Amino acid sequence: MTILVTGGAGFIGSNFVLDWLRGSDETVVNLDALTYAGNLRNLASLQGDARHVFVKGDICDRALVGSLLQTHQPRALLHFAAESHVDRSIHGPGDFMRTNVEGTFALLESVRPWWLALDSSAKEAFRFHHVSTDEVYGSLGMDDAAFHEAHPYQPNSPYSASKAASDHLVRAWHHTYGLPVLTTNCSNNYGPYHFPEKLIPLMIVNALAGKALPIYGDGLNVRDWLYVTDHCSAIREVLARGRVGEVYNVGGWNEKTNREIVETVCALLDELKPDPAGSYRRLITFVKDRPGHDRRYAIDARKLERELGWRPAETFETGIRKTVQWYLDHTDWVTEVQSGAYRDWVQANYGERAATA
Ligand code: NAD
Ligand code: DAU
Repeated sequence: MTILVTGGAGFIGSNFVLDWLRGSDETVVNLDALTYAGNLRNLASLQGDARHVFVKGDICDRALVGSLLQTHQPRALLHFAAESHVDRSIHGPGDFMRTNVEGTFALLESVRPWWLALDSSAKEAFRFHHVSTDEVYGSLGMDDAAFHEAHPYQPNSPYSASKAASDHLVRAWHHTYGLPVLTTNCSNNYGPYHFPEKLIPLMIVNALAGKALPIYGDGLNVRDWLYVTDHCSAIREVLARGRVGEVYNVGGWNEKTNREIVETVCALLDELKPDPAGSYRRLITFVKDRPGHDRRYAIDARKLERELGWRPAETFETGIRKTVQWYLDHTDWVTEVQSGAYRDWVQANYGERAATA
């Protein structure tokens, strides 16, 4: 059996592929365009492993996706590929509309004729699993109840608007064409291989380099944090036993202000790799706020817990300690990402296979 993953060289996608292949002998076909955020180095441990078939390509390329479906006949497609960074979406929304909206549309339209032609048991068994975000629900006040699956969509950034559009497309392809879809809306992930443009890895990397730790606005914006392998386990559960057409919210019940996050990172670094100049806290700098910065996200994950018995394995305390330690142990990964040298590694190790389907 085979699964087709899009965006499997990104942060969550690569964690998912590694996690999946730790517990399964199924082949994973990994379609990724290798944008700045895609890093095959994350999957170096799978080098030479026949269960991982990497294909460099764009989800907008219908001919390519169609041929992958015909060749590999996957029992499921897990759609991670996206432009994912809110700040980038503010400065350049075009790529977000193309990949997140048009790309999801192209993927659905590539899958539909192939799926329709399957025999009835394969057709029934197939799943299109769309990986999405809590940001589609908008922003909460401090006293509001956490987002549940029926919360109205109120996206506020170009990124979240593009993800909201993709969620709606997936929903429509189920209701209109009967495509067996599943959607998960997850809160902020953190952990290994997180690109150092996002809050937690940026703070770790900057602190170690003695650079400023920029906190937007007053630093009291709240996010709910989930260790990435817990997101992977939630996706596995939903894929295996989720009800077709349903949406499942995924979260860690770990609401933290950005100040708390940065202070926790500094405290862990002070313990694990003491700052020669005293404490990394000295580097904290409050900077201009992100335009339209959502104040609070919080996820009500009770549906997933109740229906599928899913629980996160990590607490925030265990997950953040592992994460800080991972970055301390993988300074070569950070250096390569920052210098872009991982692209040379891909060329040397994957060569033509990375350049063609
Ligand atoms: P990421 O930016 O780290 O990785 C995205 C991957 O998609 C990269 O490997 C990139 O090369 C690939 N990609 C981009 N455009 C592509 C295209 N047109 N065709 C093929 N591949 C393309 O993102 P991430 O943080 O791993 O997020 C993965 C998914 O999870 C996204 O859909 C995101 O919206 C969602 N999500 C992320 C978080 C989070 O905290 N990071 C939380 C909830 C949901
Ligand atoms: O909620 C899920 C979302 O989480 C995902 O859908 C997105 O793909 C993912 O990027 C993430 O979005 P955020 O905008 O919440 O993540 P980011 O790490 O960019 O920022 C987290 C918080 O930290 C946010 O309130 C902005 C703030 N921040 C961020 C950066 C990069 C700072 O204060 N300083 C910074 O330098």
